Amino acid sequence: MINLKTKSDIEAMAESGQILAKALEAAEEAVKPGMTTERLNEIVEKVILREGAKPSCKNYQGFPACCCISPNNVVVHGIPSRSVVLKEGDIVSVDSGAYYKGFHSDAARTFAVGKISEEAKRLIEVTRACFFAGAKMAVDGNRVGDIGSAIQQMAEEAGYGVVRELVGHGVGRSLHESPDVPNFGRAGKGVRLTRGMVIAIEPMINMGAADVRFSKTDGWTVTTLDGSLSAHYENTVAITEDGPKILTLR
Ligand code: MF3
Ligand code: CO
Repeated sequence: MINLKTKSDIEAMAESGQILAKALEAAEEAVKPGMTTERLNEIVEKVILREGAKPSCKNYQGFPACCCISPNNVVVHGIPSRSVVLKEGDIVSVDSGAYYKGFHSDAARTFAVGKISEEAKRLIEVTRACFFAGAKMAVDGNRVGDIGSAIQQMAEEAGYGVVRELVGHGVGRSLHESPDVPNFGRAGKGVRLTRGMVIAIEPMINMGAADVRFSKTDGWTVTTLDGSLSAHYENTVAITEDGPKILTLR
């Protein structure tokens, strides 16, 4: 079942989204070589709490932190750790959620740690562009496949792999709602998009092959099978009568 949101629901979700955007900006400003992923998690959590929101991910299905922090070949769901130290040239994805006035917001960014290679820069930039190509299709009357197809086309044209096992999703009073929003698919296919739907569009793009591996040790960490770098860019997007409204960007 798809939970449609009223205008006032979407206003509350926008407030939640602005808090999350602010928290991720704090992470972007703070990220530097020598920092642990645990420290980066603390910085995001501090802003979310200071703004009167709650971290959506903490204790979600047992997840132990406020953010998923995923360096280099980690695709998503990396667990922040005092023993993971970021170094010059790394890329790092930070994915978090804020719960405020009864609604979740969900967003992720991939940051450069110090100076990074041109190839890594391009991966981050294309992943971000994939999000916007998808978000542009998030309009009343389109279908979920229009979003996925736009993202897949852009990523594959750049020579990258699109992760299949993890997908975007509806967002609202629960962090994960219907429908699934894959980053691949066929234009004109899938669930019809309507005003009042709020979805997380979240391309996870690998520099190499699309295949991923799920950690059997910690139950969370997802890495690329071939060891290549992976980037993630996500925002919570409302489908409104005025078109797509990105709630987690300032
Ligand atoms: N943005 C993440 C997702 O949609 C949220 C993960 S929270 C976690 O998968 F607890 F599941 F890690
Ligand atoms: Co998400």
